[in-house]
Amino acid sequence: MGTADINPFWYGPAGGTLVDRDAEIAAVVDALSNAGKLFLLGDRRFGKTSILAVGGDEVAERGVAVLRYDAEVCETIEVLAGAIAAGATQLFAASVDRAGELARRFFAPVRPTASYDLSEQRLTIDFDLTSEQRRRPVLVLATVLDGIEQLAATHGRPTAVVLDEFQEVITEGGDRAAHQIRAVVEPHRYVGYVFAGSRVRFLTELSADPSCPFWKFGKLRYIGAIPRGDFRPFVRRGLESAGCVVEDAAVERVFDLAEDVPYNVQWMSGTIWDTVRLVHLQTLTATTVNAVLDRILDQAHASYMLTWVNLTNAQRRTLKAIATAFGEDFRLTEVAGAHALAPSTMQRTLAALEDRSLIRRAASGTGVRWSLGDPFFAHWLARVQVQA
Ligand SMILES: Nc1ncnc2c1ncn2[C@@H]1O[C@H](COP(=O)(O)OP(=O)(O)O)[C@@H](O)[C@H]1O
Ligand SMILES: [Mg+2]
Repeated sequence: MGTADINPFWYGPAGGTLVDRDAEIAAVVDALSNAGKLFLLGDRRFGKTSILAVGGDEVAERGVAVLRYDAEVCETIEVLAGAIAAGATQLFAASVDRAGELARRFFAPVRPTASYDLSEQRLTIDFDLTSEQRRRPVLVLATVLDGIEQLAATHGRPTAVVLDEFQEVITEGGDRAAHQIRAVVEPHRYVGYVFAGSRVRFLTELSADPSCPFWKFGKLRYIGAIPRGDFRPFVRRGLESAGCVVEDAAVERVFDLAEDVPYNVQWMSGTIWDTVRLVHLQTLTATTVNAVLDRILDQAHASYMLTWVNLTNAQRRTLKAIATAFGEDFRLTEVAGAHALAPSTMQRTLAALEDRSLIRRAASGTGVRWSLGDPFFAHWLARVQVQA
């Protein structure tokens, strides 16, 4: 039996092999290498960032200057704009000595200063902003993106900008942010853009009709679940590589407990793999998979508890209603009544939970279905509340 020494499963920012995302990767590659505009939308944990990484690396290998940033990790749009400006300067400046000069030339309206940290080998760009620019940081970002278009045009080098969790820019940037981004990006001919986001509905609505800021602005692509038929062989082979016999029911249990969410499938599989090695397990059964879930819930206990205690009372009740009604259509009035909430309160609470990716929606033939963003959170809730 083929055994491996390294756990083949991965969950987290560092990428591994992607199952079944060729069409999405191709769409990213196309937008980035042909100055296109693509919106990549999907619930958290379904694989957007992974697709961006693979697509971005692929075009970078072909010589495209790729600037990939996550808007969510930056505390402000100004910080994001600074990071992008520094990345662009580092890619285009012939040497570190020329970085300041290049930044001043291409990002003049935000009066940049470049500094280089020799030990970290990192370029930092600081802006000297007017009060108007401070008030409207999207204009700072717009200036940087325009500068990148000029850089690309001047150097004759195809360039790509990838903005992950793009909704942050729109929500932080206020009222006119979406219009301002569109106005600056639309005429660009040398830079390809991919905007990715987890707030699917929010971003979709921005291009819903001709009155919306992103109407016919770019292509729209949704990331859904990986079909089980494609994911199953990957999981089975990986589990077998730990050196045990894998029963069919065990593999199905992994997908059922993880509700087919790619992150959770990998998390669970990776933990099973370690367990098989640790206890020299001979045969993996569905019962062993259940035991591994308990181990995961123990490890994640503190973080789930922290999430739970930071919810409002109405949010807790709504979350629990969803966790216990998994797979059923959500009849708002009925559920609200059963949990002693006014339907309008529950409606607002659903929106707030969705904004925080604590819940995700799935359309069903007959209505809307909700599930927890992290299916293990539902298992945790069921467990601690039984013990309480
Ligand atoms: N195509 C895929 N094949 C296998 N695992 C995947 C795939 N896409 C995502 N995953 C798993 O899901 C995790 C979360 O993916 P990520 O790209 O960070 O999602 P998102 O950015 O949409 O939140 C990854 O770390 C990986 O474990
Ligand atoms: Mg992501």
